[in-house]
Amino acid sequence: MRITIIGSGYVGLVSGACFADFGHVVTCVDKAEHKIEALRAGRMPIYEPGLAEIVASNVQAGRLSFSTDLAGPVSEADVVFIAVGTPSRRGDGHADLSHVFDVARDISRHVRGFTVVATKSTVPVGTGDEVDYIIRMVNPNADVAVVSNPEFLREGAAIEDFKRPDRIVVGHADPRAVEVMTEVYRPLYLNAAPILFTSRRTSELVKYAANAFLALKITFINEIADLCENVGANVQEVSRGIGLDKRIGPKFLNAGPGYGGSCFPKDTLALVKTAQDSNAPLRLVEATVAVNDQRKRAMARKVVAACGGRVRGRTIAVLGLTFKPNTDDMREAPAISIIQGLIDAGARVTAYDPQGMEQARPLLDPHVAYAEDAYVCAHGADALVIVTEWDQFRALDLDRLAAGMTGNVLVDLRNIYRSEEIEKRGLRYTCLGDGLATLPLSYPVAAE
Ligand code: UDX
Repeated sequence: MRITIIGSGYVGLVSGACFADFGHVVTCVDKAEHKIEALRAGRMPIYEPGLAEIVASNVQAGRLSFSTDLAGPVSEADVVFIAVGTPSRRGDGHADLSHVFDVARDISRHVRGFTVVATKSTVPVGTGDEVDYIIRMVNPNADVAVVSNPEFLREGAAIEDFKRPDRIVVGHADPRAVEVMTEVYRPLYLNAAPILFTSRRTSELVKYAANAFLALKITFINEIADLCENVGANVQEVSRGIGLDKRIGPKFLNAGPGYGGSCFPKDTLALVKTAQDSNAPLRLVEATVAVNDQRKRAMARKVVAACGGRVRGRTIAVLGLTFKPNTDDMREAPAISIIQGLIDAGARVTAYDPQGMEQARPLLDPHVAYAEDAYVCAHGADALVIVTEWDQFRALDLDRLAAGMTGNVLVDLRNIYRSEEIEKRGLRYTCLGDGLATLPLSYPVAAE
């Protein structure tokens, strides 16, 4: 199969590299010249474990190439994937589809022979119909089948997710597309990944519904964590206790400082808007969005409380800035609100992140100081806050850390430590959802 991918960002590049690895001949297109030049020189525009290696080996094998011009690669392709960004539109939270529609126009001018046009970008229900309409308006002779083929890639685990997906979803309105897309994903369902063919609108909604459900699951356990703190229960045990029920499942039940990233915040908001416009409001998702927004800032208050209620003039070390580990992505990262909240309360903040500091600088308050590692960051700090659970923070030399600190407060917003191991170093440990630590066992449950 000859595959052309328009948009060499995170989704386009990972998909292109993995399709090439399956043996397809792939061209990744992007209009940003600096990006294509960097990729040709073997430099990745994003940090994603394993990506550089897959790109290099497939370029070398002649299966993967990069171009700023879509004309040639589109005319030769069996399948053209649209993988451009759909950011939140300023002002109303709807997805901004201008890039998708521009690409649809460009594609329509260059397609030759029967071509499947597959949208990988996350787009609101009905966008496939619009893309179909645009292509036929611009070029009435174009023989295309427009399909929806959402991605379910987690940053930091994208290659694994691509190669071993739970499922592949393809929404179509033309049976010829089924044959082509079956061929595109053939190497995957040899690995037993189910491929689900649906209507185009259904497939578009599957993507939003999946992300909204996961965001809801996280938000649910985050609220349960708060409840645990107030009633003397432990959220990790609650997660385990409910997650063993196969109907619930153990994943996405880790309490944290609120979800961030490029997908959940944007997609939940867009779904809320679509649902309101369609006269079927999704109130649970609306609540999820609001609760998650408030949570990020509330985490700053939690840190202040752990410091005894005042942080003015104190130094707080923040470990982990990115919205999750194994990425340099700072979009909607809880660290942004938490650090701002601490600075607003008068604290001085030093920060360290293994990959995200460059991306963080323009987003964080200019007074934040950056350290070269976790120990330098903690040196002289009154309190230490773990915001992102990078592996290197799971195995810190706690004696060295404690010895360098001026104060003795450690706030673990990812629950990666046990209180005993922290407290035996003379530090005071605060985590999420451990009411056994915050309340005496004799705490009266019923109001008296
Ligand atoms: C997500 C979806 O998982 C993926 O399928 C979709 O295509 C894109 O959006 P991603 O944003 O890369 O992927 O990260 P994910 O691992 O899902 O985490 C999202 C956020 O939720 C992070 O901020 C993470 O810290 C948080 N999270 C996740 C929790 O707080 N607790 C959990 O148990 C899981």
